[in-house]
Amino acid sequence: MKGCYPRRAWPSRCDNLSNTEPERIQRHNRAVRLAHGANAVAMIVLIATGLALGDDISPVLVAALGGHAVANEMHRLGGMAFAVALLLAAGLFHSPTRGLVRDLVYFRQEERRWPQAFLKCILSPAHGHTAFHNGRFDPAQRLILLLLLCSTALVAATGVYLYILPAAPQWVFLVAIRIHIYGAWIAIIALCLHAFAGLGVLHTHCGLLGAMFGDGTVPIQTARTLWPGWTQNKLHDLEGDSHGPPSHTPS
Ligand code: HEM
Repeated sequence: MKGCYPRRAWPSRCDNLSNTEPERIQRHNRAVRLAHGANAVAMIVLIATGLALGDDISPVLVAALGGHAVANEMHRLGGMAFAVALLLAAGLFHSPTRGLVRDLVYFRQEERRWPQAFLKCILSPAHGHTAFHNGRFDPAQRLILLLLLCSTALVAATGVYLYILPAAPQWVFLVAIRIHIYGAWIAIIALCLHAFAGLGVLHTHCGLLGAMFGDGTVPIQTARTLWPGWTQNKLHDLEGDSHGPPSHTPS
């Protein structure tokens, strides 16, 4: 299996790990995987029914969804439920939500070199190597996730407005519907890029799918290539854990 490791990412203290290093590393727990899966299914249903309403998919697919009337009801009620669930999840799990937002918006100086190095690594796996960074997500992944989550939030907010449709001048309705539609197209593009990366087609992303749609682990080589600093810290923690808790001598 090929991968591009950032050489600078491996100081000598980590060299010792290579003999005992695990083949895979835990990335996401079961609760996160279930929430992500439910969210992905909901988004796909909302996108399909939304495209059916706009006649942007073939009539055969519209008929398969039950026709315009059924697609309309599914989209309106499903969209409202999705928006409420998003708000509840963000409120109930505010600490992980804040952590996710912080990890997504925090770009570091050192990451300026990353896009060029990553491109070189994709085009020439034997010679290129990704640049070191310390983030939980790589910079490209972060940009795409930000685009996906911001456009989803905008589409959900305008969707709730269109569902309730309070009395307001007509231009407000026109602005809301345009934001809803253009925002949905941005979300669709971002989702396609996110799913393409997640499916692990690129050699740099080999085995990534398992992180969300498998046992939550990724091959160590993929983790090293995409999130070198995160992997280094995780291995260091594992090494600490394997020594077990400090022995307790009763006095
Ligand atoms: C439909 C197909 C989808 C696939 C194949 C997919 C795949 C993946 C994979 C493999 C990861 C793990 C990446 C990593 O560990 O860094 C991931 C993470 C993530 N995905 Fe998706 N995803 C999909 C849909 C979605 C949707 C619809 C959303 C939201 C609107 C979404 C939001 C996220 C977020 C926020 C993360 C990071 C979670 C975290 O680390 O806390 N994904 N996805």
